[in-house]
Amino acid sequence: MTPKLGSCYYPEHWSEEQWQKDADDMINSGLAWVRIGEFAWSRIEPEEGVYNFEWLDRAISILGSAGLNIVMSTPTATPPRWVIDKWPDMLIVDADGRARQSGSRRHYCFSHEGYLEEAIRISEIIAKRYGDNSFIKAWQLDNEYGCHDTTLSYSRSALKAFRRWTLKKYKTIEQLNESWKNVFWSMEYNDFEQIQLPNLTVTDPNPIHSLDFKRFSSDQVIKFNRSQSQVLRKYTQVPLMHNYMGRITDFDHFEVGKDLDIASWDSYPLGFLEDRSNQSDSFKNKFMRFGDPDFQSFHHDLYRSVGNGRWWVMEQQPGPVNWAPYNPEPANGAVRLWTWEAIAHGAEVVSYFRWRQAPFAQEQMHAGLNRPDGVKAPGLSEASQVFSELKEFDSIDQVQSKVALIFDYESCWAWEVMPQGKDFTYFELVYDYYRALRSLGLSIDIIPPNAIDLSDYKVLLLPGLMHIGDQLESAIKEFDGVIISGPRTGSKTLDMSIPINLPPVVPGIKGTVARVETLRPKAEIPIKDQGYFKKWMETLVDSDNVIKFCDDGRPAIIGNEKNLYIAGWADQDTLRSIFTDICADQEISITHLNDCVRIRETSTHRFWFNFSEEESTVGSIKIPASGVFWEAI
Ligand code: GAL
Repeated sequence: MTPKLGSCYYPEHWSEEQWQKDADDMINSGLAWVRIGEFAWSRIEPEEGVYNFEWLDRAISILGSAGLNIVMSTPTATPPRWVIDKWPDMLIVDADGRARQSGSRRHYCFSHEGYLEEAIRISEIIAKRYGDNSFIKAWQLDNEYGCHDTTLSYSRSALKAFRRWTLKKYKTIEQLNESWKNVFWSMEYNDFEQIQLPNLTVTDPNPIHSLDFKRFSSDQVIKFNRSQSQVLRKYTQVPLMHNYMGRITDFDHFEVGKDLDIASWDSYPLGFLEDRSNQSDSFKNKFMRFGDPDFQSFHHDLYRSVGNGRWWVMEQQPGPVNWAPYNPEPANGAVRLWTWEAIAHGAEVVSYFRWRQAPFAQEQMHAGLNRPDGVKAPGLSEASQVFSELKEFDSIDQVQSKVALIFDYESCWAWEVMPQGKDFTYFELVYDYYRALRSLGLSIDIIPPNAIDLSDYKVLLLPGLMHIGDQLESAIKEFDGVIISGPRTGSKTLDMSIPINLPPVVPGIKGTVARVETLRPKAEIPIKDQGYFKKWMETLVDSDNVIKFCDDGRPAIIGNEKNLYIAGWADQDTLRSIFTDICADQEISITHLNDCVRIRETSTHRFWFNFSEEESTVGSIKIPASGVFWEAI
């Protein structure tokens, strides 16, 4: 596969006279793809049933004739004002019961049936017009589901749909009462119509009520996406995709991905570091011009799996963004580094957001590949450099990694509902394991919790997985590599209760979690001859095989060398040391890296990335400042 570059373009933001030059400049800069149309509804259909496609026809023809492949989009993330006037109750409602207003974007509730029809209707009209247009080589559905906290809605429509969802799942109210154990606090219902949404309760709602609401909300996203994909497939043969976001976990991306052909995501390394990372200030200062060295790759690996091997970066940060608490400039070379890293992880296309900075509206302070006056911004020359460098490669292909890490959206929801300690988040737990593996130079596959074939892996990690489903259980029983689980793995039933014989319910692990405790920041439980546990600690009893103890005498790791259960949230050094031993046993070669250097292997090359403004040396390898080094393997 030969990776390509692209950009996001908004013909409706610029005068028509500029389009031809923009298209030619894109081609001359080495871009092959352009994404358009995802926010253009008010220009396509300014009033209900009044269509204005001529401008878009011309834009498509100019861009396509210049040699660009077009990603056409459905515009359903930005319903125009008249749609809201038509369906005033389509607005998403927050947990405090307030409708979130129009005037920006993503203001719709996934459960509103009128809006769903409206979204299908406009998608169908656009698909009919352009479905067989030869310049259009892919479609994007909507834009960033769930972004701006828009998956969960506490509207009347959501309530109605949630009642239907519970009826379908539990069939009788007795069964729901039994599964939810509503006897607790006299919460039993006589009828599905009595069920409310789990907001505005005096104290915590029943955790299974909240978890089911999250499951339902995820299903609504799946349904919304599916209804668009079904309509598009009637008119087009080209691949369908969606642009997911970073660290948005409110819906099951694996399930949404099943109705699409390619996964894509929007990679804003500096925005994410400022906006959605709990790292310390000193870490953020250190990486303020590169972003967290593991964050982008985590999502590359996750979305490669969501796309079943096929994935893109649809929006790559090209310069400072506007939306994080602080918006620094990328280091010189960082845009090139991010692009190469995505390519090394298998991106088919890296497309920059956006071609030209808009001098108006919400994102006027967000850089583009070009300045608002049309002069090239630094990101563009770095993109063009990648374009030239790519000529060295016939093809860049992925190989299966030896290490697989499970990521489970349902566990995210379960532990949001029941964190037990303020600092327990599933994403961060899995991410800590990922970071420790990456710091050993490993390439990692992130896989879903219902993986059925583990045969080519040597190590499987499933930290914090709330429940091991039947499929995974069978796959684990067949697996002859090393399994690492805990903490919190196999600790709940699907009904969000404690398993009757107590956790962990993990095949092959003998032991019982007698108690758990969560720890204040900086409180640590030392592990003998190792580092420490933080945030979360389990007291394990009845285990006949303790591999390691804590200083206080409690088991730290139980199991055997092929199946380990870790009793708490271990620090990075401890995780690294556990993984180092396992890799030695499994004959997986590792390279100890400092926190600025990362490696990714493809089928033919080893790529080294340096997230620092100074040259880094690892053994005999020198990785230039803010740079990339590759070698054939
Ligand atoms: C993304 C979004 C784009 C643009 C960009 C700015 O989340 O899809 O439309 O807003 O952020 O960084």
